[in-house]
Amino acid sequence: MALIEEVAKISFERVGSHSHIRGLGLDEKGKAKFMGDGMVGQIKAREAAGIAVHLIKKGKFAGKGILLAGPTGSGKTAIAMGIAKELGEDVPFVQIAGSEIYSAEMKKTEFLKQALRRAIGVRISEERKVYEGMLEKIEIKRARHPFNPYVEVPESALITLKTKDDTKTIRVGREIAYQILEGGIEEGDVIQIDAESGRVSKLGTTKEEEGIFLKKKVNLPTGPVLKIKEFTYTVTLHDLDTVNARSGGLVSLFFGGGMEINDDIRERVDQAVKGWIEEGKARLVPGVLFIDECHMLDIEAFSFLARAMEGELAPILILATNRGTTNIRGTGIEAPHGIPIDMLDRLLIINTEPYRRDEVREIVKIRAHEEGIEISEEAVEYLAELGEKTSLRYAVQLLAPASVLAKERVEKEHVEKAKEYFADIKRSTRFVEKLEGMLM
Ligand SMILES: Nc1ncnc2c1ncn2[C@@H]1O[C@H](COP(=O)(O)OP(=O)(O)O)[C@@H](O)[C@H]1O
Ligand SMILES: [Mg+2]
Repeated sequence: MALIEEVAKISFERVGSHSHIRGLGLDEKGKAKFMGDGMVGQIKAREAAGIAVHLIKKGKFAGKGILLAGPTGSGKTAIAMGIAKELGEDVPFVQIAGSEIYSAEMKKTEFLKQALRRAIGVRISEERKVYEGMLEKIEIKRARHPFNPYVEVPESALITLKTKDDTKTIRVGREIAYQILEGGIEEGDVIQIDAESGRVSKLGTTKEEEGIFLKKKVNLPTGPVLKIKEFTYTVTLHDLDTVNARSGGLVSLFFGGGMEINDDIRERVDQAVKGWIEEGKARLVPGVLFIDECHMLDIEAFSFLARAMEGELAPILILATNRGTTNIRGTGIEAPHGIPIDMLDRLLIINTEPYRRDEVREIVKIRAHEEGIEISEEAVEYLAELGEKTSLRYAVQLLAPASVLAKERVEKEHVEKAKEYFADIKRSTRFVEKLEGMLM
């Protein structure tokens, strides 16, 4: 399990234009508040998403998926993210665009397999025996390097760990002494030493410090120094695949090398995970695979996904598109949203409508707050008006350049200037088309 522990520390998070979304903003009855969890308006779609969450939690959504269909900037991605947040804190949310499957490095199905497995979490809990306490005293015993008599190396150390209720002095070997030295651990720091593996982790310091590189301040632990603690971490099936594919373990995770992930490895990982689940050590946390611009997927990708949804280890599939009737890629067939019928049959469709001015106004305010931009009421009102005429996306996007133009607070004039510099989609296409007309 030590390897998993390492992987758990590598967490990937995409913070960006949706960082304010914390859920769907519904009350206990499933009704949407005008504003809640960072969400504004789009009432019907949010309530529909809430019903889907309810079904998922009850286990009544197997083999089904969700399609979010609506114009650009109507909150499709935001709602998909809200759904994942409603499912739980550590539920994976993986976002890809349909066009990403056409990468040169990987087969389409391999790319999709990896995306699916990144969207399935495994929550692992284990009890471990640890020494935990504040490092009160450390004496390092040094010896000559076995191959180089001019160099001194730590051979062992005598350390005293202290909690509110207990003090213990232990002799530790070279490995642990090294970790303490290399980790810059000093007297006054609170540390944890895994009794089995000898891994040392620094939790913080008990001392008041001054300076730029402040350590995290923690309290003196309570209870005995040697104790049993439960650790919980969530990794994804793809993390486990990656670690298992690298013959050199973690080292090669960072420095390359090792094998490619293949179905054998995935099979082995699945067996191991099932074993852990049966032993009560792990639980599966199915997450969300969100595929934006799903009309870019082709017929092969759709059949692959349809089959994957039947599998026992499947995440929740959420597709999004802004297309009406269009070609199914890879065929000459037209279909609703460019999606083959056998896939459409599995999808609950939620429509997202263009935003009204009062909705745009509140979303602009939330985003300004999130990005730490101070803005006047008048400027917000102007952005709301622009957003209603063009798109929410455009209004939100103008915030950042307007804040560059403003010295302090963003005023209406700064938004006007930003609007001069950066075009919305309609204005930009009209501009290019006019020039094309002149060349004809
Ligand atoms: N109902 C909403 N409440 C709060 N923020 C929203 C809402 N809808 C969209 N947003 C935000 O507005 C921006 C554009 O929405 P997005 O979800 O990207 O639209 P789409 O995916 O339909 O193109 C994003 O920053 C998004 O987080
Ligand atoms: Mg989107």
